Amino acid sequence: MADTEHETKTTVSITVDGRTVEAAPGELVIAAAEREGTYIPRFCYHPRMNPVGMCRMCIVEIDTGRGPSLQPACMIPVAEGMSVDTTSEVTKKAQDGILEFLLINHPLDCPVCDKGGECPLQDQTLAFGPGESRFVEQKNHWEKPIPLSDLVTMDRERCILCDRCTRFASEVAGDPLISFIGRGSETQVNTFPDDPFASYFSGNTVQICPVGALTSVAYRFKTRPWDLDQVESTCTSCSVGCRIALQSSQDRLVRQLGVDVDPVNWGWLCDKGRYDHEAFDSDRRLGTPLRRDGDALVETGWAEALGATVEALAGARDRHGPGSVAVLGGARLTNEDAYAWSKLARSVIGTDSVDAQIGDGLPAEAVVGLPRATIDEVCAADTVVLLAPDVKEELPVLYLRLRHAVVERGLKIIELSPAATGLTRYAAASFRYRPGEAAGVMRDLLAGEGPHAEAAGLLGDGTVACVLGRPSLAESGQSILDAASVLFESAPATTFLSALRRSNVHGALDMGLAPGLLPGRVALDEGREWYGAEWGDLPAERGLDAAGILEAAANGQVRVLVLLGADPLADFPDRDLARRALAGAGFVVALDCFATDSNRQADVVLPVAGFGEKPGTTTNIEGRISRLHQKVTAPGTARTDWMVAAELAWRLGGDLGIESVEDVWAELSRLAPSHAGITWERIQSGEGFDGILAGELTTEAVEEAAADPEASDVDEAFGPSGGGSDDDATPRIPAVLRFGPVPASRNLPPVDSYSLRLVASRRLYDDGTINQHAPALAGLAVAAPLRVNATDLDRLGLDSGARVRCTSSRTSLVLEVAPDPGVPRGSAVLTFNQPGAGAADLIDASQPVTDIRVETITDSTSQERADG
Ligand code: SF4
Ligand code: SF4
Ligand code: FES
Repeated sequence: MADTEHETKTTVSITVDGRTVEAAPGELVIAAAEREGTYIPRFCYHPRMNPVGMCRMCIVEIDTGRGPSLQPACMIPVAEGMSVDTTSEVTKKAQDGILEFLLINHPLDCPVCDKGGECPLQDQTLAFGPGESRFVEQKNHWEKPIPLSDLVTMDRERCILCDRCTRFASEVAGDPLISFIGRGSETQVNTFPDDPFASYFSGNTVQICPVGALTSVAYRFKTRPWDLDQVESTCTSCSVGCRIALQSSQDRLVRQLGVDVDPVNWGWLCDKGRYDHEAFDSDRRLGTPLRRDGDALVETGWAEALGATVEALAGARDRHGPGSVAVLGGARLTNEDAYAWSKLARSVIGTDSVDAQIGDGLPAEAVVGLPRATIDEVCAADTVVLLAPDVKEELPVLYLRLRHAVVERGLKIIELSPAATGLTRYAAASFRYRPGEAAGVMRDLLAGEGPHAEAAGLLGDGTVACVLGRPSLAESGQSILDAASVLFESAPATTFLSALRRSNVHGALDMGLAPGLLPGRVALDEGREWYGAEWGDLPAERGLDAAGILEAAANGQVRVLVLLGADPLADFPDRDLARRALAGAGFVVALDCFATDSNRQADVVLPVAGFGEKPGTTTNIEGRISRLHQKVTAPGTARTDWMVAAELAWRLGGDLGIESVEDVWAELSRLAPSHAGITWERIQSGEGFDGILAGELTTEAVEEAAADPEASDVDEAFGPSGGGSDDDATPRIPAVLRFGPVPASRNLPPVDSYSLRLVASRRLYDDGTINQHAPALAGLAVAAPLRVNATDLDRLGLDSGARVRCTSSRTSLVLEVAPDPGVPRGSAVLTFNQPGAGAADLIDASQPVTDIRVETITDSTSQERADG
């Protein structure tokens, strides 16, 4: 615009205590003042929730030209020329009065209150309060405390009715299970009769309650704020990677709080992430190496355990070839651990049979090659296609972000799933597919053909993002990839956000813990020369994935099986195959924090440091690298996984060249194309607060590095052994993988009208090792029934709640059956990894889908229990 007089002013000028403050139009006075360093006291205001003006604590004198008047700063948006006085006598008197009223019924039991020492009411009364109360009347008395759920207790005497918890439950979590009840001085926050506060996000209400009214069962009376020591870290319970404050007392983890990171979790945590740190404080942690002695595992020293492992590894490699060694797992590891194991497997042992996904993910090359979207980008897209598991159950805080985008800005979600999910009620359209048929349904939807003619044009003309994961463990990951390919071919500008759930699975894949992959999202053949120049010879052949490894082990072809925090008996979709594999593997060495069903069968178990016990980094669903801090000491003699890898390499006659996590980053930022220029220093700096997104090294960055290494962001001269050489023999930088349409997977078996096609989905609380070692969570996993559409129940002559026999090609189980309108006809849903026998016993991983027959138990079979 030529005429600057007509340019629109993009900020609003106000004065706060005489100082000019530039604010964004619509910004609330309380937020604008705080941004400029003036703290206005508050109880009900929370920057991530809509203001309600409940408590009046933020009352200040505001003058908009008609003279100053007392107004709540959390309810008033800035206006040009507005003057705010937060320190005037009138403001001070009003705030005194509000505090005096708030304390009328407050019990003042600060010495025994969990919040004492970190309580906004206590602090603000000291900073802004009257100093003395004029009220001498009897205070309200309530039974204290009462349980609101298994995780949260309520002390109603302490509640100041600020509406934060109730607003969070309804506005943010979408679980309006707590509410104000009663009137006047009898008003209280409580649950509805027989309806506990069973929300996956209930711990957030404890964190944001400005007094000690809501307390968590896990933390009550454990310690006092002044005994706590804190570092910031990242939750690794799933792959969202929420930022946390990790607090310890006397070298024990005692509490985890959400920290507000704008691109990721906005301060929220799910209850699993918030409380499962308890597991690492369990006295059942492994702290000493174990070795097999007959039927038992007995304690031993590191030298003996490593010696036995090296003897087995060297023997297998030298006598049967490096391909006879396989490494399963790694998603629990940090990036640095995963890099060390990737390097050990490829360069010292010589095997490419490594897989961090335990048969429960998607083909790795496709995942690392996806054109990516961040969480923010997905939430800002015009349309989101959900081709993923139930995000509320598997990636809870991503669910909160998506739900917010739908509710607050009208994000259009199109869901394609084998059964209803937590997001179904927020989806603009939700379509069901029978396991194995997602690609066909996607094709019909996009073309507006067949039974989905009404869906024509559903994607619209705007931006499209796809949340892509594994909706069911009873259908192959390849069939989901087929559906993603159909979408990508039809809308090539689609970007993808991975919904693979295992904590650092994305970091493990970026570090090359998958067959045919090298660190930096590079294919084995593409990167052979580049990495070979630094690492030495790499495996000539692509190795096996998890299913292939287990099949080979079952056939006696795996001489050494390394389990990196992997429990295939619990986590691989097909338990029968996992069982045969562990029995058939020559020598099993497990690195783990806990004893599991799988590692109880190992020959050597090496104890390793867990969450909060080692520094490093993790990578989330977006490819965002965030830092992990050590807060407490690992038990016994447990070591980090990368240290074990480095020691094994040395004993095998190699040298990983890694003596610290900094060493890993020095090498990674030099070698891995997707991590070029990401240095340990950057990760530790302020820039690393939000995490740093890994991505491919751009052509411009490579050229810049080659032209002027010192000026470049790319660490030194990017390349093997310092690179930057004029030598023509220097290998070229390998290209990162790119997702492309994949050939359609093999044909499905015909549908038999007497069978139901199995869907195996997950719940947040399961029988997983960490869940079961965390006292607060252990009781929350419950055996789930087989869920079937009521029409199928009628058709098959089954009664709701009856115990039925389910038979697959693998086995027969007796389960309870329940009707579920969210399950389409012809399918049956069983929750994976719940207590007792279940989906993993029925699934045949060698088939693209698993069909089950469901029959009423007759008298002659009613005593049989296949799950015994
Ligand atoms: Fe506010 Fe806490 Fe009372 Fe909820 S319980 S209304 S958060 S004071
Ligand atoms: Fe942790 Fe995932 Fe929950 Fe976030 S959503 S708190 S990363 S378990
Ligand atoms: Fe403004 Fe409560 S913080 S009314």
